[in-house]
Amino acid sequence: MIIGVPSEIKNNENRVAVTPAGVSELKKHGHTIYVQSSAGVGSGFSDDEYIAAGATLLPTIEETYAIAEMIIKVKEPIESEYALIKKDQLVFTYFHFASHEPLTHAMIKSGAICLAYETVEKSDRSLPLLVPMSEVAGRMSVQEGAKFLEKPMGGRGILLGGVPGVKPANVLILGGGIVGTQAAKMAAGFGARVTIMDVSIPRLRQLDDIMPANVDTVYSNEYNIREAIKKADLIIGAVLIPGGKAPHLITRDMLKTIPRGAVLVDVAVDQGGCFETTRPTTHADPTYEIDGVIHYTVANMPGAVPYTSTLALTNATLPYAIQLANKGWKQASIDNHELKHGLNIIEGKVVYKGVSDAFGLPYTNVNEFLK
Ligand SMILES: NC(=O)c1ccc[n+]([C@@H]2O[C@H](COP(=O)([O-])OP(=O)(O)OC[C@H]3O[C@@H](n4cnc5c(N)ncnc54)[C@H](O)[C@@H]3O)[C@@H](O)[C@H]2O)c1
Repeated sequence: MIIGVPSEIKNNENRVAVTPAGVSELKKHGHTIYVQSSAGVGSGFSDDEYIAAGATLLPTIEETYAIAEMIIKVKEPIESEYALIKKDQLVFTYFHFASHEPLTHAMIKSGAICLAYETVEKSDRSLPLLVPMSEVAGRMSVQEGAKFLEKPMGGRGILLGGVPGVKPANVLILGGGIVGTQAAKMAAGFGARVTIMDVSIPRLRQLDDIMPANVDTVYSNEYNIREAIKKADLIIGAVLIPGGKAPHLITRDMLKTIPRGAVLVDVAVDQGGCFETTRPTTHADPTYEIDGVIHYTVANMPGAVPYTSTLALTNATLPYAIQLANKGWKQASIDNHELKHGLNIIEGKVVYKGVSDAFGLPYTNVNEFLK
């Protein structure tokens, strides 16, 4: 198959969808890979590395889209890319259609096959192409929290791990899923005193089994949160209600009970945030302060570490990309139901219920196309 890897042109996006290692794997399976010049530079991969791995470089995004049967990307196409996407072209990337109506209409019009990373789903309902970014954000939340706890950064000037003779910081993590677990591991590794809260008892039980002794598990309810925030130095918001907005677990009035100079990192900002005072920020200006409490609320945290994020993402996407390239989207989706869940739009028809529901569009059962 002829595969195209365009540069990401969305603002501040430095990731790339296929690494030189990925090119070499796809080549081994007999595929031809065209990579747009400089596509990997933001993630630390030079054009020479792509050439050495067997890719052919193309100077423009137009040529990269024009030549390819399958486009592999990271972010959803932006407006200037809509017209480049062709009928019957397979586009494998994050789309997040349900929150983007113009993109949905543009892809219906294109006649392309849109297979979305975020809806590829395993039989246990987990989302294997979202997990790596949650892992990055979870680990990063502690790194960012530690940084903004430093006095010159506006924080209360406390070291997460303390030192011999001085108590460590208290870290409170709301939500014990992928983000929360990775955050807890990092904070515990720093030597902080960690409390992780969740509403799922099986989850708390599992965390209690695997976490080190400086991590406590506590059931998440308003009373317990009100008590815990009084002595928290760093609070990490990591809750998710699938398909819904995050609940406001820390309300505006609760802020005054949190120690001055404490840091709130709301990783759930992309779902509205789990603190009432959360509003999205960017890496250029990541924090703001309310009632003496620092808020860090960057909506695309993994974007700050494109090297790690690209490798984490491509480790997860490449096995699927190889199946799609080897068999074509139809046979690959018949053989692997995880990929079938990823199909959102096929040849002008919406085949993913969540997307048709979001905009009142006609829904076609995906099986119509998989005969
Ligand atoms: N800002 C970023 O750059 C970035 C990056 C990746 C993920 N995220 C976001 O981080 C959030 C968490 O993602 P995840 O992959 O860890 O989700 P997840 O589903 O693995 O975990 C969410 C956890 O929240 C728990 N929960 C639900 N209601 C709760 C409550 N009231 N109190 C405490 N816990 C509660 C659930 O039981 C679950 O264990 C999501 O909103 C995701 O979109 C943001």
